[in-house]
Amino acid sequence: MPRASVARVSNDADVSADGLDTDEVASADPATATERERWEELVAAIETARERYYEQDAPTISDAEYDALFRELVELEARHPELVSADSPTQSVGGTQSDMFEPVTHLERLLSLDNVFSLEELDGWFGRVERELGSLPELLCELKVDGLAVDIVYEHGRLRSLATRGDGRVGEDVTANVRYIPAIPRRLRGDGTHPVPALVEVRGEVYFPLSGFTALNDEMLALGRSPFANARNAGAGTLRQRIDRREEELAAARERASSTVARLQDDLDRAVRRLGMLALVVHGIGAWHGHEPQRQSVAYDALRGWGLPTSDRARVVGTVDEVREFIAYYGEHRHDVEHEIDGVVVKVDDLALQGRLGSTSRAPRWAIAYKYPPEVVRTRLLRIDVNVGRTGRVTPFAVMEPVRVAGSTVAMATLHNQHEIARKGLLVGDLVFLRKAGDVIPEVIGPVVEERDGSETPFEMPTHCPSCSTALAPAREGDVDIRCPNTRSCPSQLRERVFHLASRGALDIEGLGWKAADALLADGIIADEGDVLGLQAADLRRSTFFTREAGKDEPGGRVLTANAERLLAELHQARERPLWRVLVALSIRHVGPTAAQALAREFADLDVIAATPVDRLAAVEGVGPTIAASVADWFTVDWHREVVEKWRAAGVRLADERDESRPRPLAGLTVVITGTLPGWSRDTATAAVQERGGKVAGSVSKKTDFVVAGENAGSKLDKARTLGRPVLDATGFQALLDAGPAAAEEHLVPADD
Ligand code: IVH
Repeated sequence: MPRASVARVSNDADVSADGLDTDEVASADPATATERERWEELVAAIETARERYYEQDAPTISDAEYDALFRELVELEARHPELVSADSPTQSVGGTQSDMFEPVTHLERLLSLDNVFSLEELDGWFGRVERELGSLPELLCELKVDGLAVDIVYEHGRLRSLATRGDGRVGEDVTANVRYIPAIPRRLRGDGTHPVPALVEVRGEVYFPLSGFTALNDEMLALGRSPFANARNAGAGTLRQRIDRREEELAAARERASSTVARLQDDLDRAVRRLGMLALVVHGIGAWHGHEPQRQSVAYDALRGWGLPTSDRARVVGTVDEVREFIAYYGEHRHDVEHEIDGVVVKVDDLALQGRLGSTSRAPRWAIAYKYPPEVVRTRLLRIDVNVGRTGRVTPFAVMEPVRVAGSTVAMATLHNQHEIARKGLLVGDLVFLRKAGDVIPEVIGPVVEERDGSETPFEMPTHCPSCSTALAPAREGDVDIRCPNTRSCPSQLRERVFHLASRGALDIEGLGWKAADALLADGIIADEGDVLGLQAADLRRSTFFTREAGKDEPGGRVLTANAERLLAELHQARERPLWRVLVALSIRHVGPTAAQALAREFADLDVIAATPVDRLAAVEGVGPTIAASVADWFTVDWHREVVEKWRAAGVRLADERDESRPRPLAGLTVVITGTLPGWSRDTATAAVQERGGKVAGSVSKKTDFVVAGENAGSKLDKARTLGRPVLDATGFQALLDAGPAAAEEHLVPADD
């Protein structure tokens, strides 16, 4: 495509629709038929996407795909200005109002924002602003809230209207809902410094706080409705409810004494509750009658003073570097914010300078949105495979066409279980929305139903283990998960257990990763996890994975690799690890680091744990009946005990040493700890007692020697009083630890305190 410099795209940008004064240069040649066709396609795709997004709150393409389509259209029109028509999407801000609500004409148009997707493009904007103004002015950095744009008008401090953005000129009237949204004040209060103007129009973003989003979707599912794909849709769906119609419907049903009253009342209550959760952040000003501030940041101060919520994350900065820092900071902390963000908005702070820069038909030139990389993308669900975990649980997972999302390439995502697949309505072959939030695990959100062509097929859970062909079954009737019962020798489970025992939360053997675990099993060097801890150099020498051809100066044959030497050294250390790590390494269901530490603290010896009755195990703080049953069950299985014996023979320490040289001033004493103690967690307080030879019990009895009662101590303190057991506060506890029971007696808290 020749790009001769005939007509520079006009910088009043009624043509350069993104208003960027793009350096894109118009072509001398008229658009080809193919280009015209592509233009039609792009316009149609963008219009459909806008309709789905703005009217139905149910987008079918991701924001990033939309941005890409829009950008392609802008570039095409920049090359061929003759293609631009008045109804091109580049000439409007997107968003229409539906006839569900009354139309409201905004006092001033709500514009959109131009986007940049890289720091280089952002530099382009800095350059243009600087050229226009002579120097770079002070800039206001804000978060780009991924919510629903609204326009609010206050007249003499009273709310006149709340409207959605609509097409930028005319929006939908949702004023009737305001009385249920405490985040939006119905009256502005004067704050002394800034008088409330006779009329003010503010713009902002309504959003559904992320903290309530999961619960909302759970509720939707419980009601048999489709969940919202993201918090933005949840916010839009919540705000755009015809509460007034529901109220009328309910009143009418009441009058007729209709049987649906209860249901309608429930629906209304739910709708009102949801509205109550909405939040608002104000980020702009429209019409303003009265003394106007000179800076946007000062206008925010005024708005805040009147009771309107503004963001306290906005920053006025003087340099490009500070803008970059702001962007980098929120790139890292994107998920620490109470709402979803899709970028950063940079604005010229001075309102007079904003006026000088002006706007295109679509967006201001004094502001720019820097967009973060997408976190929701679409990709094809190729297959659903299943994985057999270390406890035999069979977990289906999605195998997808690899796609880049949030900075990494994703091709797989867990689907948890077959009910989850059914709940999401996924079919094999579907185009799916895929989300990845920062370094969080990728998640298949759901299918793009509109894109189905009938070739998609339902997933069927296998009836036999893909690894060992054993028939699969739920462990107990009614269990959601199905399992492979061949726990001892199913190759999948075995490999997962070996890998797990070496993991950081267990025995922490770095040299024993996936590949090594696989190789040791495949080469028959180990038969199961029992053999791992006893591995010697001679064993590793039989493995191709851990050996290499000898070099010239070495004795012939194969020699151990550096990795093998490292593994042997690590195994040596692993045999000396504290008991709780050994417990985790055994792959006992439900026993993670927390439960393992509780057991180790209490019993300090694996043989003692194995011999302890289940109700005694359950009484340990942090253990409870499920874990206790699982532990007790585990030790009844022969091959489990064989693993323990092999480890013992390999020299693994199966008991924590009590340091006998240390004084044990609390030996023989039973202490109950309740309430919160400043400076102590329950775990550290328990450990402190145990280190000194004392026992920590979960409940108060006549045998309790001391009850340590922190703040907000409840029923255990009452029980102590009833039974007349001695009570200590934090000071008394310290005395007990430092100087023993006699000293503690001096610090008893009197009964009527
Ligand atoms: S200022 C005249 N500031 O993003 C420019 N907009 O993609 C008005 N948005 O329509 C926008 N956070 O609804 C501005 N801190 C922020 C924003 C923000 C989110 C929305 C706004 C706008 C859309 C453009």
